[in-house]
Amino acid sequence: KIAIDPTQHVAAVSPALYGLMTEEINYSYDGGLYAELVNNRNFAPHWSGFEHWFVESGGNSHASMEPSTDGPSKALPRSMKLTIMDASAANQAGVMNDGYWGMGLKPSTEYKGSFYAKSSGVGDARVRLVSDVDNATLAEATVPLQDGAWKQYQFALPTKSTLVASKNNHLVITFAHPGTVQFQLVSVMTPTYKNRANGNREDLMEMMAALHPHFLRMPGGNYVEGNTIEDHYNWKQTIGPLIDRPGHQGTWHYRSSDGLGLLEFLEWCEDLHMDPLLAVFAGYTLDGKHVDHEALKPFVQDALDEIEYVTGDTNTKWGAERARDGHPQPFPLHYVEIGNEDWFDKSGSYEDRFAAFAKAIRAKYPELKLIATTPVKNTVPDVIDDHYYKSPEEFYAMLHHYDTMDRSGSKIFIGEWATRVGTPTPNMAAALGDAAFMTSMERNSDLIVMASYAPLFVNVNPGGMQWSSDLIGYDAAHAYGSPSYYAQVMFANHLGAFVARSTNDGESARVFASATVSADGKTLFLKLVNGGDKPANVELSLPHVKPGKAAVTTLSAKSRWDTNSIDAPKHLVPVDSRVNVGAEWKHTLAGNTIEVLDIPLQ
Ligand code: AHR
Repeated sequence: KIAIDPTQHVAAVSPALYGLMTEEINYSYDGGLYAELVNNRNFAPHWSGFEHWFVESGGNSHASMEPSTDGPSKALPRSMKLTIMDASAANQAGVMNDGYWGMGLKPSTEYKGSFYAKSSGVGDARVRLVSDVDNATLAEATVPLQDGAWKQYQFALPTKSTLVASKNNHLVITFAHPGTVQFQLVSVMTPTYKNRANGNREDLMEMMAALHPHFLRMPGGNYVEGNTIEDHYNWKQTIGPLIDRPGHQGTWHYRSSDGLGLLEFLEWCEDLHMDPLLAVFAGYTLDGKHVDHEALKPFVQDALDEIEYVTGDTNTKWGAERARDGHPQPFPLHYVEIGNEDWFDKSGSYEDRFAAFAKAIRAKYPELKLIATTPVKNTVPDVIDDHYYKSPEEFYAMLHHYDTMDRSGSKIFIGEWATRVGTPTPNMAAALGDAAFMTSMERNSDLIVMASYAPLFVNVNPGGMQWSSDLIGYDAAHAYGSPSYYAQVMFANHLGAFVARSTNDGESARVFASATVSADGKTLFLKLVNGGDKPANVELSLPHVKPGKAAVTTLSAKSRWDTNSIDAPKHLVPVDSRVNVGAEWKHTLAGNTIEVLDIPLQ
């Protein structure tokens, strides 16, 4: 039996409860959200040559590729040197790039290309997008190169209306004359959300928009820490013209181009109407090393500079830099997180590191709320970031963890959480665990002010995933939401403003509920979860509801192991219907089911 009194508001719901967490993992940016199609556009050094680049020749044409220590900028002081030995108009030679497990192409679409080149004798570059299946040319451009110094070239690659959308495509650049050409920053961008220059893939942005996220933890996770001090997330190297971004070794076994850098994170927030939640590097890296005392000072200064880059007006040093980068308007900022999972730092140095950051940030920006990644004793953080990666059963067992927690201290941010069942994306069992946990977050959202599922993204190709159970999966052409994604869409779209007084004696049978009321008091948002396989007969006492129809959104599976995948993206999706509801309502909740009801109140 579930009894709810919608006129009794026991707490306010945090309007910022649901947000997003992001880091470069599972090819989230390069090979994911970032609209670049070319893999390894910066020709990162590798023992095998240049990953994802191959010589393209045939018939009587010959070419070779080698690293060169000459590049177009200080940040990219190297390039790929292509020597064309033999070539003719009919038998061209050059290079090809295979993209991130292909390149997603659509009909009647213009792909924007550019590269830096320094050439001698090769003449025009013929740039083509080509099908892997039959080698057909799907889009092409002729780019006349001028012999001499480094120069950037831009071109357009429009596809025909007859093209069949697919991911099985690659890029080819060839020449009809012998000579040499050095390349750097070879780029082909797919159209972006809201046509942002250097922006994001449209389908993934639309999927995130449907979550109505309130904030973006940027960037979080191991990625902000780095494997070594040298490779920590150094935001200053991720801003400005792309040619001035060296890229860096990420923590998930691949290199980051940093094409999606700090300004792009902020523009991502702007496009989805989210607040940035800025995570700053706090002097601890994944190899277990930390910096402190004098050595920490430059990193504290970097954090202050970063905050100024986000919020400063154009009279400030870093605000002016942001304006030069194309965004004179400052961004809103309320929360700064200092580090990530610093409970791993067994030296205990976080106490002093947090204090050093907090002192400096609070002196200059007293209005900012500071998030600690583990409890500290001598400085009071505004918020503490708790992380949970659990099984459904573990979540079911901890649904009352926050109910009795002290409300007078720091607030809670659940900056990473997920029920981890299913790979690459979670299945229905995980969605049920997630939904149950969300009922407890909503009930406690006077304390839990924000929460963000992690990881957000996975490129589902073999080799694309470093961490299983990720909210949204994709390849070069398509994206899909896991059942956990849909559970979040359902909860986030019916958040409510107040927690209603309620009791539920069905938890031992795995029936969970959350009851919130809209700000105007006219709607009860009732979330019901049946984590059991069998239907549950639920008796609901709902005084003050208007007897009649209520809107229901249902996500249900025959088996908890059911899921969505890149080949069956819509196997489990929420379904809308209407149901008769009254003050005493007997309701059968199907097994493995999440329901969200909008119930009109009197
Ligand atoms: O979300 C994956 C990883 O889990 C994050 O990078 C890290 O913070 C956590 O341990």
